[in-house]
Amino acid sequence: MLIRRPNALKSSEITPEPLYLDRRAWLAAAGALAVGAFAKNAPAQDPQPVGKPYGLQPDDKPTPWTDVTTYNNFYEFGTDKSDPARYAKDFKTSPWTITVDGLAGKPGKYLLEDFIKPSTVEDRIYRHRCVEAWSMVVPWRGIPLADVIKRAEPMANAKYVAFTTLMDQKQMPGQQLGVLDWPYTEGLRLDEAQHPLALLAVGVYGRTLPNQNGAPMRLVVPWKYGFKGIKSIVKMTFTDKQPKTAWNISAPNEYGFYSNVNPAVDHPRWSQAKERRIGDFLRRPTLSFNGYSDQVASLYAGMDLKKNF
Ligand code: MTE
Repeated sequence: MLIRRPNALKSSEITPEPLYLDRRAWLAAAGALAVGAFAKNAPAQDPQPVGKPYGLQPDDKPTPWTDVTTYNNFYEFGTDKSDPARYAKDFKTSPWTITVDGLAGKPGKYLLEDFIKPSTVEDRIYRHRCVEAWSMVVPWRGIPLADVIKRAEPMANAKYVAFTTLMDQKQMPGQQLGVLDWPYTEGLRLDEAQHPLALLAVGVYGRTLPNQNGAPMRLVVPWKYGFKGIKSIVKMTFTDKQPKTAWNISAPNEYGFYSNVNPAVDHPRWSQAKERRIGDFLRRPTLSFNGYSDQVASLYAGMDLKKNF
């Protein structure tokens, strides 16, 4: 079985935290030539997934690295699934600044290294379910979103946190097209955001996050559709109003604010009852909350999830 618990690992197999936090050091160590240049960085074999499998069945196998890093949605680099790996190669992710603003007791601008450092970086293997009825099992590496929120000291009237992706039409040519309302935005209710499963990922498969997966930092909310996983985050805003989200602005009848994986609510153009795991031939039943019901269903107690889709 590919999934191993941390205590089954030799210490030599675990990338030391300072090494992977320092992108340049990692790249040098890997002998890589360009940041996120997938073709050049591709390991000869799949890197070993490490970390704690969250909510997985014993036969849920991590999706191969090649699929996780070449079958992507990142419209800033093109709308084809293969575009991000091809066109995000030279995207500059260091230095990277994150702004915390809105209803926060500790607003400010932080360098990524300082933003992450006070937290423990964890390896976690989650299901990642995309709306077009396919899913993956992905070994993400990151810090609990709840840690960052705690440090920001949201004010008592803050009910939501909004996220914004970098706006840079030169580096992200997709932003010159009207496919979405740029910059890409997302949001969570504050209690959802503080749930221990929500992660700010800086790596995948024990490696620094490739550009096409949202370097240098992206959101992972395992019980929601993949589009909630906003990439290349530059801003977190605490607010008392439900934030606008890129996909909800684009197609409000197809993509709601909540975006919980729900096999009982069809997307207007296709059924959500089944999904195809990337790499599998047959489809399998989609699980409520992507298989995380026991942990997260209570967040939505009493809500009509057909209306709040
Ligand atoms: N974030 C930004 N900034 N731009 C995007 O186009 N696409 C979303 C999400 N985050 C997207 C984004 C969608 S639709 C999906 S399914 C996931 O990223 C895909 O993440 P992955 O490529 O790592 O699988």
